[in-house]
Amino acid sequence: MRVTVIGSGYVGLVTGACLADLGFKVVCMDKDEDKIRSLQDGEVPIFEPGLKELLARNRVDGRIRFTSDACDAVEHGDILFIAVGTPPSEDGSADLGHVLSVAATIGRHLKSFKLVVNKSTVPVGTADKVRAAISHELLHRGMSTDQFDVISNPEFLKEGAAIDDFMRPDRIVVGVDDGPHRALSQRMMGDLYASFNRHHARTVWMDVRSAELTKYAANAMLAARISFMNEMANLADVLGADVDHIRRGIGADTRIGHSFLYAGSGYGGSCFPKDTQALVSTAKAHGQSMAVVSATEQVNERQKLILVQRLVERMGEDLTGRKIAIWGLAFKPNTDDMREAPSRVVIRQLLKRGAHVTAYDPVASHEAMKALRLDFEGEEGELARFELAANDMQALEGADALMVLTEWKNFHNPDFAAMKAVMRHALILDGRNLYNPEALLDWGIAYQGVGRRNDLALSFSLVRDELTEASALPAPLHA
Ligand SMILES: NC(=O)c1ccc[n+]([C@@H]2O[C@H](COP(=O)([O-])OP(=O)(O)OC[C@H]3O[C@@H](n4cnc5c(N)ncnc54)[C@H](O)[C@@H]3O)[C@@H](O)[C@H]2O)c1
Repeated sequence: MRVTVIGSGYVGLVTGACLADLGFKVVCMDKDEDKIRSLQDGEVPIFEPGLKELLARNRVDGRIRFTSDACDAVEHGDILFIAVGTPPSEDGSADLGHVLSVAATIGRHLKSFKLVVNKSTVPVGTADKVRAAISHELLHRGMSTDQFDVISNPEFLKEGAAIDDFMRPDRIVVGVDDGPHRALSQRMMGDLYASFNRHHARTVWMDVRSAELTKYAANAMLAARISFMNEMANLADVLGADVDHIRRGIGADTRIGHSFLYAGSGYGGSCFPKDTQALVSTAKAHGQSMAVVSATEQVNERQKLILVQRLVERMGEDLTGRKIAIWGLAFKPNTDDMREAPSRVVIRQLLKRGAHVTAYDPVASHEAMKALRLDFEGEEGELARFELAANDMQALEGADALMVLTEWKNFHNPDFAAMKAVMRHALILDGRNLYNPEALLDWGIAYQGVGRRNDLALSFSLVRDELTEASALPAPLHA
């Protein structure tokens, strides 16, 4: 069985590389010719641990190749995966433009039976639209519309651990509907994923609509857990409780579990924000509300501002002349993905208040700069106060505060003495709760995590005396 993956981004490349590694002959197609050229040259346009090596190995062994030729791509695969982006439209609904354009392309080039598998995250009913778009082109060509099936196989991989997630899935959701090709489609998908079902059956079979909705349900549930913990953390801050204890205390309950209970300065990325919006929009279009999902989004929007609010509590609204260091720009570690990264909101808020911002990210600097240039189009003067540092310590030189926005491993155990020595004011606002508040107090570093006992954070006043008179910060609000 041969496989074509249309759309060679985070999902498409991982899918293609992993299926090639399982022995299938794979073609990855993309309309972006530069991307395809660089893939053909052995470069990988995204950062995903292990992906470069996996692609290189399978390319050398002749199991994967890259093309921007749609005809070649459609011709090659018995299975055609659609793995293109589904960005949010103005109204929050998923923009199906790329998916339907791929469907039309398939219809224009299809000559024999193809199983079209939708891997993009799409609203319920999209498979019907894909079917209609392919049929439309086939009819236009005077061909029978019985040459294909459209099924759903949503992707659950996490960026940063995508290859492991693909190769060791908790479950594989496949939605197949009744119809003339049902048995064949099921057999083909069964064969494709046989390696993952050897130990025990991991494939969860269902109808297409349920499969489409399952993906949104999963992301909404995960996002809701984060927002729930963020609200709990904010309350813990006011009450003098520690959300890290609460996390452990509730995570030990097997009905709850430990995953996705980390409070912080908001979630981002290419999935949760757009998928929760799209789910709310789907519900609205059908006269329903999704109160929990809407609240999840609102809490997250607020949470992205929390570190800036704390800074403002200490330093006032006008941050002119202040230098703020940022550690971490990507929306999470082990990726260079800057889509909806909370750092973009934080940087805008800081620059708007007149601050100078120096940021360091071990991997995402290039992507971050691209994203910020777009964010600040027409406001280049504002962006002039933003700079990238070559390393974490350089970002801290002369800083009035450090904000930790991504939990990269190399930020876990920094040299606090050296940090204190290079910063103008030893203040850490930790949006990822990486550090131990008591330890930081011992170091004489003012520290505030998210929900990590506000009274310790407010001990800032204890170290305030160490600041020089001229540059002393205003006392914290509740001191
Ligand atoms: N990134 C993730 O972690 C993740 C996880 C699970 C599901 N998803 C879903 O998978 C889908 C793809 O996400 P992604 O992050 O890989 O997107 P991406 O933006 O990284 O990649 C999409 C690719 O599709 C290409 N493309 C667009 N239109 C095309 C066309 N007509 N023909 C050929 N190529 C075309 C683009 O050039 C781009 O390279 C989305 O629906 C997303 O929600 C993403």
